[in-house]
Amino acid sequence: MSETWWRGAAIYQVYPRSFADGNGDGVGDLAGLRSRLPYLSDLGVNAVWITPWYPSPLADGGYDVADYRDIDPVFGTLAEAERFIAEAHARDIKVIIDVVPNHSSTASEWFKQALAAGPGSPERERFWFRDEPGEWRSIFGGPAWTQVPDGQWYLHLFAPEQPDLNWTNPEVHAEFHDVLRFWFDRGVDGIRIDSAALLAKPEGLTGRFEDLDEVHDVYRSWRRISDEYGGRVLIGEVWLPDQERFARYLRPDELHTAFNFDFLACPWDPARLRSVIERTLATHVPLGAPPTWVLSNHDVARVVTRYGRADTSWDHGDRRDGVPSDLGLGFRRARAAALLAMALPGGVYIYQGEELGLPEVDDIPGELRQDPIWTRSGHTVPGRDGCRVPLPWSGDEPPFGFGAGRPWLPQPEDWRKLTVEAQTADLGSMLTLYRTALRIRARLLGDGTLTWREHGPEVLAFTRDSGLTCVTNLSAAPVPLPPHEEILLTSGPLDEGLLPPDTTAWLM
Ligand code: GLC
Repeated sequence: MSETWWRGAAIYQVYPRSFADGNGDGVGDLAGLRSRLPYLSDLGVNAVWITPWYPSPLADGGYDVADYRDIDPVFGTLAEAERFIAEAHARDIKVIIDVVPNHSSTASEWFKQALAAGPGSPERERFWFRDEPGEWRSIFGGPAWTQVPDGQWYLHLFAPEQPDLNWTNPEVHAEFHDVLRFWFDRGVDGIRIDSAALLAKPEGLTGRFEDLDEVHDVYRSWRRISDEYGGRVLIGEVWLPDQERFARYLRPDELHTAFNFDFLACPWDPARLRSVIERTLATHVPLGAPPTWVLSNHDVARVVTRYGRADTSWDHGDRRDGVPSDLGLGFRRARAAALLAMALPGGVYIYQGEELGLPEVDDIPGELRQDPIWTRSGHTVPGRDGCRVPLPWSGDEPPFGFGAGRPWLPQPEDWRKLTVEAQTADLGSMLTLYRTALRIRARLLGDGTLTWREHGPEVLAFTRDSGLTCVTNLSAAPVPLPPHEEILLTSGPLDEGLLPPDTTAWLM
């Protein structure tokens, strides 16, 4: 693959705790991931993005990193990570890891040194220590300031275990330059940058804390390092609805791509989807940056559940956890949406389990929930555990081949119908749809452009460079297919030659 493989790649997101457990302790690990590489090859993805695998007290699912240059023992060892990278490469699968620069962990050496060194020390200057707390609230709920025994307070935009790093300090810059090199030297093909718009803080630590101009200096310097390594891809987690501000991250000397959260958050509505797609293309094309198409990740409710609700949009501030869903409807729409996302020009992200059509698990008992959103909301917002339940691989009952032990979050009994094993044998399954679609996509889709076809106000239809036409019916009635010679794939059965509601077809 070329140096710009990522422009049209299908990237599979692995949440390692929940992917596959190799040692039977109920937690996914590198042994499990390595053993399932053939599955990822068969699925047909070009790359995996692995959410944090570093040593971590797990106050936030690993996004509280105690050591950026090692692997958490629950997952394995650094040597095993290197073997994994080599084995993935041998299968032509690229490896992207998660780098978390906005905050570290109270268990990190730096934070321990800061506590020991006391107020006014250079060690405290790596974080944001103050004599008085500020007024910001944590993104997970509660105050963003926590007091330490000597009376000072430190800033944490997320959980108290995630102290924010001070990006006005050159030492912090140097540290992350070294972390990037550490992993690039070990062969990783790119990094996903966590909370990428939050690093720079306003003077006085008041007012807006997102998207300050200084953050771009960080990414310019990271891009220089990536370029030295032949263009390892830099992917930003940038939640910014303002397209002009978003586009700044994709300037030619900054990040290569960023997640398209407008697409993820968009309701299942033809006009809204079309406008998000057009806006996305208008933002990216002038920059020469490929768009990304993201339907879900480890922070949002599963697609099947979201699309079966009365309100199909996504809103971080109002998670709508537990809101009832028509899963049959959601399932049809998730299939149609998968073909739509895979047909659009650019890269596509697939969060583990979406290829199995897993629904959100709403009934995890409170005492088993691990998301800090649950605790910090005073047990009023369940949070993100419901999309992080360990994958069902095979068999008729939990743990469904996930591993020998009891999974760290309980799997629903009725997932027996959703195992990889059950779906492999079923030509009508979600997994078969993904496998078939990814195969076609590798040949005919990915990077490039599209031309819209007008096919009525509630139908999205466009033709790609290869001549493939993708048509999605978002109306309430069946519609005729546009002229074609061949039907390559449909997300559901046709209705006497017509394309039913909530269905996508790929035509040539
Ligand atoms: C990102 C991650 C999320 C994490 C947060 C803090 O949004 O995707 O899982 O909780 O950053 O690191």
